[in-house]
Amino acid sequence: MISLKHLVKTYHGHGAPVHAVCDVSLDVAEGRIYGVIGASGAGKSTLIRCVNLLERPDAGEVWVNGRDLLTLTDAELRQARRQIGMIFQHFNLLSTRSVFDNVALPLELAGLSRSDIVARVQPLLALTGLEARANHYPAQLSGGQKQRVAIARALASEPKVLLCDEATSALDPETTRSILALLRDINEKLGLTILLITHEMDVIKTLCDEVALMEDGAVVERGPVQAFFARPQSATAKRFVQAALERPLPETILSRLQSAPAAGLDPLVRITYVGGQVDAPVLSHLSREFGVDVNILSSQIELIQHQPLGFMVAQVEAQDQPAAETALAWLQQQELQVEVLGYVSR
Ligand SMILES: Nc1ncnc2c1ncn2[C@@H]1O[C@H](COP(=O)(O)OP(=O)(O)OP(=O)(O)O)[C@@H](O)[C@H]1O
Ligand SMILES: [Mg+2]
Repeated sequence: MISLKHLVKTYHGHGAPVHAVCDVSLDVAEGRIYGVIGASGAGKSTLIRCVNLLERPDAGEVWVNGRDLLTLTDAELRQARRQIGMIFQHFNLLSTRSVFDNVALPLELAGLSRSDIVARVQPLLALTGLEARANHYPAQLSGGQKQRVAIARALASEPKVLLCDEATSALDPETTRSILALLRDINEKLGLTILLITHEMDVIKTLCDEVALMEDGAVVERGPVQAFFARPQSATAKRFVQAALERPLPETILSRLQSAPAAGLDPLVRITYVGGQVDAPVLSHLSREFGVDVNILSSQIELIQHQPLGFMVAQVEAQDQPAAETALAWLQQQELQVEVLGYVSR
C-alpha cells in the first residue's frame, strides 16, 4: 500500500546541511500497522511527511495505493491526498469550530452537500466515541477527546492510509492506551493501513505488526515486532528494547559487575526466550548436567503480538571458569538468546 524507495531529504540552512532522511526504503502492506521508532532528530517526522508530500523528498519514489505521488499533477495529487489521512501530536483542530464542524471540514472543502456531510460525520463520531460531544468546542475537550476528533476528521475523506506523527506523545498513559485501542479498532473495522512514528516502544509493542528503527536519517533495523523485541541486532535496537522491557539491574549488582572473566567471578547472563519455551527445565538441566548453580536475579514475561517473551538475568555459579564456559556454551545452543552481561563475585 505504501512503498518508499530510496528517499532522500536534506535541509540546507545556515550551517552545514542536515541529512534528515538518507536513502530510506520502506514497504507497508495493505491493512498492516507499521511503526517507525527512533530518537529525537532521527528523521521520523521528515520521513512520514514525505509520504503525503507535506515535505518533498530530494530524490526517491513515494508510492501510495499504486501511484508514485512525485509524478502526479497538482490536481491528481490533491485527489491522491484524500486517500491519506494524517494525525499529529498536537491535534491541529480549529478552535472556532465545533467537534462536528471540525470533522466535517474536509467534506465541506470537497464540496459535499449538507445531508451527505451529516451522513458521513455521524458514524465517524460514533466510531470515535464522540457522539455526545458533537457540539462541543476543542477548548472544552480533554487531550484524548481532541485526538479522537482529529482521528474522525482524518477518516472523513475515507482514506486508505492513516499517517500518525507522535499521535499519543502528548497524552497520559491511560489515554494513550485508549487511543491506541481506537487505532487498532479502525485498522480492523475499516482495513485501514497505518504508518505511525513514535519514540515510545510501548506504542510499537501495543499496536504495531512491523517496526523500523531510524537513526541519523537511515533505517538501521526492521522486521516483525516480535522478532525486533526478541532478537534486536544493532546496539541502538538493543538499547530501545531493554529500556522498554527490562527492569534495570539493582545498583548493588551493577557496582560489582566486571567486564572480563577472572578467577572467583561468575558470568552474569541475560537469557531471552520466546513463546512456549519454559525456562525452568532448561535451567534445571543445566544445573544437573553441568554441576552449576543458577542464581536467578530477575525474571519477567511480556506479551508481544500475543506471544510471551521472557527475560531473565542470572548468575551462573560454576566450580571454575572452564566449567562455566562449558555450561554457557550448552545454554547458547538451546533455543534461547544468551548474552553475557559481565562477571560478578559471589
Ligand atoms: N524544516 C527544517 N529545516 C531544517 N532542518 C530541519 C527541518 N525539519 C527537520 N530538520 C532537521 O532534520 C533532522 C530530522 O528531524 P525530524 O523532525 O524529522 O526528526 P524526528 O525523528 O521527527 O525528531 P522528534 O522525535 O524530535 O520529532 C533534525 O536534525 C532536524 O533538526
Ligand atoms: Mg518528529
